[in-house]
Amino acid sequence: MKAAGILALIVCLVASTESKVYTRCKLAKIFSRAGLDNYAGFSLGNWVCMAYYESGYNTTAQTVLDDGSIDYGIFQINSFTWCRYAKLQEKNHCHVACSALITDDLTDAIICAKKIVKETQGMNYWQGWKKHCEGKDLSEWKKGCEVS
Ligand SMILES: *[C@@H]1O[C@H](CO)[C@@H](O)[C@H](O)[C@H]1NC(C)=O
Repeated sequence: MKAAGILALIVCLVASTESKVYTRCKLAKIFSRAGLDNYAGFSLGNWVCMAYYESGYNTTAQTVLDDGSIDYGIFQINSFTWCRYAKLQEKNHCHVACSALITDDLTDAIICAKKIVKETQGMNYWQGWKKHCEGKDLSEWKKGCEVS
């Protein structure tokens, strides 16, 4: 009973946080500062393009998949392997609560995305990237933005 009440409260708090949609250049700047440009050999354009096709730059984007797992946040990181949404959950490779991946502060999401790239050896984890960004000229994605 108590647990259910707390859970309901958490759900309410999560649901009431406003969704934030970053602009392309703001995101490019954040990614650049966080060292994503050329991280594991992937230029900034790859990251900005990927985030666009995964979440539309929406930090609170959540997608429930057929298997019941949930993709979280700007990089649509999945709860089954990468973050913790239930108390006793084994995988959680990023050692982070899934709720931390849907905040305006992208620190945790970026750390987790870096881990995914390292552990899965590339950006193939992201279908949106594979479909729309891989192998393309991605210079347009940082065009007009104040990033080097
Ligand atoms: C961002 O995602 C949340 C959660 O899916 C949704 O409620 C909200 O409408 C989205 N915002 C925009 C601007 O699309």
